[in-house]
Amino acid sequence: MDLKQQKCIFQRNNFLSIKGEKLSIKIEEIEASIVANFLVTLLHVNQTIKVQPNELILDAAIRQGVNLFYSCRGGTCRTCMLEVVEGEVVQQDADGCMISEQELTMNRRLICMSTVQSHAILDKVKRLPSVTVE
Ligand code: FES
Repeated sequence: MDLKQQKCIFQRNNFLSIKGEKLSIKIEEIEASIVANFLVTLLHVNQTIKVQPNELILDAAIRQGVNLFYSCRGGTCRTCMLEVVEGEVVQQDADGCMISEQELTMNRRLICMSTVQSHAILDKVKRLPSVTVE
């Protein structure tokens, strides 16, 4: 079997074939493993997840069975807000989400509507201690 014939078989079956031997790995599986994942550490639950480029962080966490607080998954309830300790975390649709410019500059993100562009470390939002005025 020449290379052209093998290529035809490959295209027809979508399986990788070497020297006429069909391997049990589908091309989609190989492509998926090649796609670089970013590692995102969630300090407050002591877990590290893999997040694909353009994948929402919350979706990645749910896919990997990590339990996090969330509700709407649309940027409106603010339940999923976390603080970026390290890394590049991009808030998607910031104008449509219930997050202020001030919160964004304080490195807070709604992870149901955020993606990563590097490895990152996130933690729960640290609230300033309340001040009692006497
Ligand atoms: S789950 Fe509601 S804002 Fe993220």
